[in-house]
Amino acid sequence: MSLLQISTFANTAMTTWNKSSWKSKTALQQPEWPAAELHEANKLLSHLPPLVAAGEIRDLKAHLAKAAKGQAFLLQGGDCSEEFARCSAPNIKSTLKVLLQMAAILTYGGGRPVIKVGRMAGQYAKPRSSPTEMVNGVELPSYRGDMCNSVEGTPEARKADPQRMLKGYYLSAATLNLLRAFAQGGFSSLHNVHKWNQEFVKNSPVGGSYEQSVARQIERTLTFMENIGIHTDMPQIKEVEFFTSHEALFLDYEESLAREDSEDEVPGRWYDCSGHMLWIGDRTRQLEGAHVEFLRGVRNPLGMKVGPGHNPEEIVKVIQRLNPDNEEGRMTLITRFGAGKVEQYLPPLIRAVKGEGLNVLWCCDPMHGNIRKSLSGCKTRSFEDILAELQQFFAVCQIEGAVPGGVHFELTGKDEQTGDVTECTGGASGLSDEGLRRNYCTACDPRLNAEQSLEMAFRIAEMIKGS
Ligand code: PEP
Ligand code: CO
Repeated sequence: MSLLQISTFANTAMTTWNKSSWKSKTALQQPEWPAAELHEANKLLSHLPPLVAAGEIRDLKAHLAKAAKGQAFLLQGGDCSEEFARCSAPNIKSTLKVLLQMAAILTYGGGRPVIKVGRMAGQYAKPRSSPTEMVNGVELPSYRGDMCNSVEGTPEARKADPQRMLKGYYLSAATLNLLRAFAQGGFSSLHNVHKWNQEFVKNSPVGGSYEQSVARQIERTLTFMENIGIHTDMPQIKEVEFFTSHEALFLDYEESLAREDSEDEVPGRWYDCSGHMLWIGDRTRQLEGAHVEFLRGVRNPLGMKVGPGHNPEEIVKVIQRLNPDNEEGRMTLITRFGAGKVEQYLPPLIRAVKGEGLNVLWCCDPMHGNIRKSLSGCKTRSFEDILAELQQFFAVCQIEGAVPGGVHFELTGKDEQTGDVTECTGGASGLSDEGLRRNYCTACDPRLNAEQSLEMAFRIAEMIKGS
């Protein structure tokens, strides 16, 4: 074969996407699934109904296009890793409450509509820095999220089990079902802004500020509207649009949920119906990798995590591969450099992206670049580092002429059994390293608790106003 033929062949291979074409590429971070069981699970999943509808996915993309222009703001958040055992009504409800409260603070204080996207209903697969880990002196396969294996420290529990993908599907469906009920059934109505103020936050200074400066003001506004004859029982007040997202990591699962949409104005378009928005992790965003190959063929809005190991020229090529038509709302760049590193890593990225005229939404994940070991050995993050990275992100965007359009958090509401978690230090209650052990229960990365999340939202609202 001549060189020209080889390159023509490579181009053809690049342009013919199908839902399995990722299999011809290197797929990092995949579990070692047993083949026969994997085949069986994929067959079952492929026949099950999609979890979300293509029309909803298109709506979210249109909203994100607005956020990229500064006409809306993206709030994305939830667990680092959802757990099967925590899939219960109280847990789902309390995380939703925190997100709704944060959204109310951001909308009211920041003066822009807020797009609410949970890291929920499918965030069950985790990339790991090493394929094995030491547990009580024994080397075991790493825990890769509940959709692969169990966090329990035995060789049996750590085997990759494809049945877990089916369980992940069913629990995602159960979670979504409740989220949809809460979104439309009155719970999320702005008339309930007081009710979202959770008991344990109510008594804190942050809960007080929420009551005073947001909940009461919204209530007054609604009363005023009623008094002048505007009915406030319209869907915009009584309902909320809530979307789901997760890292598209296990490609067998994502492929099984890919569906061709019969309603799309253009036939032959595919959507990954496992969630509304999917993101590609910092460890799996290689231009010629399997994740980019799979995601380039589905029309969901895509996030891409970008950490300090980035090469801006390569990121530009990945964006062009994922979004060849430069469609607005398709790409969200979720930067996660770490406090103190934003000034170094963000400007070259913004310049490279702007230089090519690419449409992206700039979003900051102030969590993943700020992990540290506490004195007692827990993996933690400090409120101050998280806040500092956000401030640096807003400042650099301003200097470079980019719109700071969203934030991405690992957070949780009250745990059903144990109450407020203590996984990140700092914030209004001044949680110290020593306090972390009190209720440290994440299966993966440390999350902001409800009080820390609300406090963060107040600070971000100021940043939005200032930008
Ligand atoms: C995550 O969001 O949980 C994650 C692993 O992020 P990143 O790919 O940025 O490390
Ligand atoms: Co994480």
